[in-house]
Amino acid sequence: MKKVIKGLRGMPDILPGDAGRWQYIENTARTLFAQYGYEEIKTPVLEETALFQRSIGKETDIVQKQMYNFKDRGNRDIALRPEGTAPIVRSYLEHNLDKQMPYCRLYYVGPMFRSERPQAGRNRQFYQIGVEAIGSASQYADAEVICLMMKLLEASGLHDTELKINCLGCDKDKEAFEQVLRKALEKQVKCLCEDCVQRHKKNVLRIFDCKNDSCKLILGSAPKIVDHICPDCQAHFNKVKEALESIKIKYSVNPLLVRGLDYYTGTVFEVTHKNLGSQDAVAAGGRYDGLIDDMGGDRTPACGFAIGVDRLLLAARDKIPSCNNDVDLFLVLLGEEAQKKGFKILADLRENGVACQMTHEARSLKSQMRLADRLKAKKVLIIGEDELKNDKAILRDMENKQQKEIKINDVTNTHLW
Ligand code: HAM
Repeated sequence: MKKVIKGLRGMPDILPGDAGRWQYIENTARTLFAQYGYEEIKTPVLEETALFQRSIGKETDIVQKQMYNFKDRGNRDIALRPEGTAPIVRSYLEHNLDKQMPYCRLYYVGPMFRSERPQAGRNRQFYQIGVEAIGSASQYADAEVICLMMKLLEASGLHDTELKINCLGCDKDKEAFEQVLRKALEKQVKCLCEDCVQRHKKNVLRIFDCKNDSCKLILGSAPKIVDHICPDCQAHFNKVKEALESIKIKYSVNPLLVRGLDYYTGTVFEVTHKNLGSQDAVAAGGRYDGLIDDMGGDRTPACGFAIGVDRLLLAARDKIPSCNNDVDLFLVLLGEEAQKKGFKILADLRENGVACQMTHEARSLKSQMRLADRLKAKKVLIIGEDELKNDKAILRDMENKQQKEIKINDVTNTHLW
């Protein structure tokens, strides 16, 4: 028996129907990004493992448990990118993009890879559409990035989302808060899950990402970072909230939101949707004012977001139209000679930008008409032996069902249709 090889678990195929919806989302994104002044950047899916260890953080779940990293044939440590921010910062520094544009607005679309347990809304290869706005510390940068994210979700057909924001403070605030939190949790360490016991020692903020109910309960009464940020960070956060209110972006402050990547400072945010079940975050992001410095550049403020396209599609599938290819004309060809002629007409029409199709196999009139129907062809041109003899084909309008005769040699003059 022949064995059919299947795709890898958690790495789904995107089949034609859904690929059309995917295209719709991407087209919507590109139009909005252009309107907001963002330019596309494409980085490779493979990078040095060290890039993600240094940026996302060695003690994060993404780096510790989810990264696809391996030695390549040259014995180099490389990884499939689990996210897009670190590669873009790498590219920004490597190509001195700051010298070309003091305020760099970049967007990206592409697959990311995380070896998580697959479930609804959680894949091992998933797709993000994201932006990185590099070079501004202003509250308007945070607010504009959040606004763009919300507009894109809405324009893609996802409504009734919930936007949660929080502030992690600057590097100093984060460091000081880590001491406060570590001390506050000391007496309850025994009640934390195994992972959180380690996190308590190595990267205490990550306890906030834990999904374990008993850890969540303990954190409910633990100190919150937003109450421990310096006056400058507090003022910035207030200004971000004010800017969001001025453009009528609804949000709520969630003091437990810290995000699972170490590079964040200042504003962080997440968008959830009720249709998504346990994996309910459809988009997320924040500020990362220390990352460019950590990666070897000058200190440069920056912020961005990423939308999970798989989740967006899951939550709003019915609302997202499919970018199906339009068929202007379908050629119904009966007999070998008609096919020969039709094949030439098709080539000429396509040269003139007309979207048209024919079947390559000989099929009955009924079966070809059925196919034209399925493809939602606007018009059908029928050529059989008689039509060839008389140099006249039948042109049928599939909407109003009207038919007329047209000279075969005139078919390429589309104004005669
Ligand atoms: P993130 O929260 O790790 O952030 O991912 C952003 C979004 O990607 C999530 O909200 C979710 O919709 C989607 N996502 C993440 N993991 C999976 C998965 N396994 N399966 C399906 N969808 C998933 C980042 O990646 C940051 N780089 C965002 C950012 C950009 N921050 C600043 N700039």
